[in-house]
Amino acid sequence: MNPKLIIDATDFAAALLFILGLKRMSSPLTARSGIVVAGWGVLVATLASFLEAFGVTADAQPHLGTNLALGVIALVVGVGWAWWSGKRVPMTAMPQMVALYNGMGGGAAACIAAVELSSPLPSPGSKLAIALVGALIGAASLSGSLTAWAKLDGRINRAFHAKGQQYANGIVLAATIFVGIDIISGGAPTPALTAAFFIGALAYGVLMTLPIGGADMPVVVSLYNAFTGIAVGIEGYVLQKPVLVIAGVVVGAAGTLLTLVMARAMNRSVSNVIFSRFGAASSGPGREIAGAMKPAEASDAAVSMRYAGKVIIIPGYGLAVAQAQYKLYEFVKLLQAAGVEVKFAVHPVAGRMPGHMDVLLAEAGVPYDMMHELDEINEEFSTADVALVIGANDVVNPAARTDKTSPIYGMPILNADHAHQVYVIKRGQGKGYSGVENELFFADNCAMVYGDAQAVLVKFIAALKELGAAA
Ligand code: TAP
Repeated sequence: MNPKLIIDATDFAAALLFILGLKRMSSPLTARSGIVVAGWGVLVATLASFLEAFGVTADAQPHLGTNLALGVIALVVGVGWAWWSGKRVPMTAMPQMVALYNGMGGGAAACIAAVELSSPLPSPGSKLAIALVGALIGAASLSGSLTAWAKLDGRINRAFHAKGQQYANGIVLAATIFVGIDIISGGAPTPALTAAFFIGALAYGVLMTLPIGGADMPVVVSLYNAFTGIAVGIEGYVLQKPVLVIAGVVVGAAGTLLTLVMARAMNRSVSNVIFSRFGAASSGPGREIAGAMKPAEASDAAVSMRYAGKVIIIPGYGLAVAQAQYKLYEFVKLLQAAGVEVKFAVHPVAGRMPGHMDVLLAEAGVPYDMMHELDEINEEFSTADVALVIGANDVVNPAARTDKTSPIYGMPILNADHAHQVYVIKRGQGKGYSGVENELFFADNCAMVYGDAQAVLVKFIAALKELGAAA
């Protein structure tokens, strides 16, 4: 059979698997299988790349052995590293891992362009221009994603701000584009110009990401994910590989939508995330709050939930930090066994990455039909006897509804304050990601159960078991 036909058919199968995999990722119920399906797509596409070896032209034959050996080495290193790191990554470090893999995608697209630029045969100007656009986006995504990874991982601990920084970034970008135009007009790129172009693109990625605050990194990573997809799609066009174009477009579209959804859930524009420091712009620190936080004993809170009709639980970043999801579900099962109706209210940006809370709860075995999105559950808080807030802060701050001076004003929040009684588990009086005080914690119907989320839940469980034994 014609090798070209086999390669095309394999590519087509890979593209179908990518699309099907992404479709399945749109629901938590099918997401796990979606990842497996997309993984098969990657495997099939990789096999198709090796099949190319059978169709190479005579002048490429002498390099075939070396290229195949290099390909196999790259595969072994890549698969080995991904398998090892994927198995041991903790849930709280997942955003870092996404950033790292995302950067690799951008880097791969940039490498394809580098090969095209170093080709001894002169390429037409239009092809060079397209390859350079992909190279710029891919290289900036690589260095930007690596910077995001370093920030998320705590290796870079502060945001770097300087006066006129945006202008400096603009100059670096303009200079890189200028070098690109020079390469296109010259027709045959010199190594010096190619190197200058890539250095400029890599520097731009770093400079653009450094000033952005650590907690905004998930939005930035998602944006780079979209950029990476676009870069891969462009390089697919340069290589005339439809499977790369399809994979790139699918990733680019998904990344763009996710970025917009996250920004909207924080009531901010994407440009506000990238170009302004959160809370440092027009907004102030928020209004003064009267009163004091009221502490409660863990056992009292647990017993009052045991006798409640309906409890809504709001998980937040602190739950992930404490890795308390297993103890939480153990406690929930005890409540359910006592006849209490329990639901989870999941804010779209609770935690530090999209879907963080859903994945965390699912990991502990919480059924998906117990998890409810903001729009679905917000009206129900007024019918709940207890709202239990665990390691969440900004996503339940009523100031977002009423205080125009607050940095989180306008952010859609979960109406925990509408419940009859609110219990909040947190370690102390620390503020949330936005750095503002939470009005809910001072409300008459709110009591604070201080302690690490896992330790408090252990006390909740012990209190209910004691109650059960005494009954
Ligand atoms: P946060 O506002 O960050 O609040 C987390 C709270 O957990 C803190 O107040 C902290 O208080 C507490 N905490 C930390 N460790 C704990 C532990 N071991 N045990 C118990 N409590 C602990 O979290 P959130 O409500 O989930 O809100 C998420 C924020 O991140 C939002 O502002 C959102 O806009 C932002 N953000 C999210 C995303 C995505 S995609 N999820 C992306 C960018 C930004 P103590 O220190 O007193 O314990």
